[in-house]
Amino acid sequence: MNLWRGLLGVAMIAVLALVGFLASSCSTLVKQRAVLSPPDIEGATFVGNTVCGECHTNYTRMFHDSPHARLNISGVKVPGGIGCESCHGPGSRHVQHGGGRGVFIVNPGMSSEACFSCHTETHAEFRLPQHHPVIEQQMNCVQCHDPHGTDIHKTAGGHAFARLNESCAECHREQSRMVIFEHEALREGCVTCHAPHGSINDKLLVQRDNNLCLKCHAQVQTSPGEIFIGNTPHTAFLQRGTCWTSGCHTAVHGSNVDSKLRY
Ligand code: HEC
Ligand code: HEC
Ligand code: HEC
Ligand code: HEC
Ligand code: HEC
Ligand code: HEC
Ligand code: HEC
Repeated sequence: MNLWRGLLGVAMIAVLALVGFLASSCSTLVKQRAVLSPPDIEGATFVGNTVCGECHTNYTRMFHDSPHARLNISGVKVPGGIGCESCHGPGSRHVQHGGGRGVFIVNPGMSSEACFSCHTETHAEFRLPQHHPVIEQQMNCVQCHDPHGTDIHKTAGGHAFARLNESCAECHREQSRMVIFEHEALREGCVTCHAPHGSINDKLLVQRDNNLCLKCHAQVQTSPGEIFIGNTPHTAFLQRGTCWTSGCHTAVHGSNVDSKLRY
């Protein structure tokens, strides 16, 4: 019996060690993607979410289900912990002064710097040659991400933008309108073809050449030199340029006149 317990103990230790290893390798992964440094407010210290909740009940209540509230970063010490103050900065002076706009608190809705302090990779994406004008202060993270709610990929403000495409559609109506000949690719989301933050390619495309389309439309070689795409011989067409700039499929977002998405 004792031996059995002993073995069980060893097994438990092994399991715990494995869990510990997995947890630490996860945290390393997180560390690579996001650096953890909340914004600084001179002379202020961290007070914790409960204190913020005394005056901002609505945010504290919904924040519970936000990915930022659930960050599992064992082994990584975030000053002040994961909570309101990781984006808004330490709140003691804000609270001492009874709160208020512009009163010793960071509002990342005014500037994305607070987000960039952790998301350095995202910062780099917005510096690529083609990008949404966030650093230029013409746009903000919260036009595409809700920082407090359950779905961070929903726009802030609580509109019913359930899907990614709909949050793009808010500004890009032309590409998201209903059409007679829909391009099914759009059902997978605008981000199958566009990098939402920035890209080295024109029009924020994830790939600059035909590979953008060929990842879904197989290129089949029947006999030497004869290439088919979608049961149509394409050998001659492929020399004219990309699928969309060659004049063949200019209506990549769908068409009202042509099922082959020509216009
Ligand atoms: C004593 C009440 C009180 C407490 C506690 C409090 N706040 Fe505030 N806060 C306010 C008031 C009042 C405003 C102004 C709101 C308005 O004008 O609509 C405000 C505004 C804000 C703003 C907007 C600032 C701006 O410049 O636009 C943020 C962000 C904020 N608080 C975050 C926090 C955080 C984070 C905590 C916890 C560390 C906290 N507050 C604790 C009362 C409080
Ligand atoms: C991931 C970063 C992040 C976290 C964590 C966060 N917030 Fe915010 N908060 C923001 C951003 C971004 C805005 C600006 C939103 C906008 O302009 O629509 C904001 C705005 C606010 C405002 C001002 C709203 C207004 O009227 O302008 C308050 C108050 C606030 N947050 C409170 C909180 C509280 C309380 C918590 C914790 C329960 C919290 N926030 C956690 C990013 C965050
Ligand atoms: C204190 C550090 C910190 C701050 C400040 C911060 N984040 Fe995060 N955020 C993280 C970490 C850590 C993750 C999870 C790992 C990752 O995806 O990089 C994360 C994840 C995310 C995700 C992906 C969530 C998912 O499930 O796909 C988005 C989107 C995001 N943050 C947006 C923002 C925005 C917008 C702001 C500013 C309003 C912000 N973050 C501020 C640390 C931070
Ligand atoms: C034009 C809309 C848009 C803007 C503006 C935007 N994002 Fe995103 N972001 C997205 C979309 C869409 C995704 C999901 C990408 C995917 O699924 O491939 C995303 C994903 C993320 C992720 C998850 C990791 C990744 O890159 O996939 C983080 C972190 C993030 N955004 C942070 C931010 C921060 C911080 C800002 C502001 C500085 C910001 N985003 C501004 C649309 C946007
Ligand atoms: C809040 C408004 C807004 C939202 C939401 C938005 N965009 Fe944009 N988008 C812009 C602005 C502004 C530009 C820059 C236009 C310019 O420079 O002429 C832009 C540029 C672009 C471009 C490049 C256009 C060109 O002619 O080079 C693409 C592609 C694009 N956005 C796709 C997206 C996708 C995909 C989403 C959703 C993930 C999205 N946008 C969400 C405002 C928005
Ligand atoms: C199948 C790939 C694909 C998908 C999915 C896609 N796009 Fe595009 N998009 C393109 C290509 C290719 C271009 C470049 C067209 C050109 O240069 O003529 C483009 C161009 C754009 C432009 C620049 C203006 C224009 O029409 O040339 C915007 C804005 C845009 N797309 C927004 C979106 C939005 C919003 C969605 C989601 C509703 C989306 N795209 C989905 C491939 C795609
Ligand atoms: C995410 C996958 C995906 C991507 C990427 C994609 N497509 Fe499609 N496309 C589809 C699906 C699914 C259909 C409908 C089924 C079919 O006809 O193959 C379709 C249909 C088409 C059709 C109509 C075919 C017909 O015979 O009716 C054309 C033309 C087309 N796509 C061109 C393009 C071009 C050009 C690109 C690159 C800019 C592209 N597609 C990228 C998935 C994709």
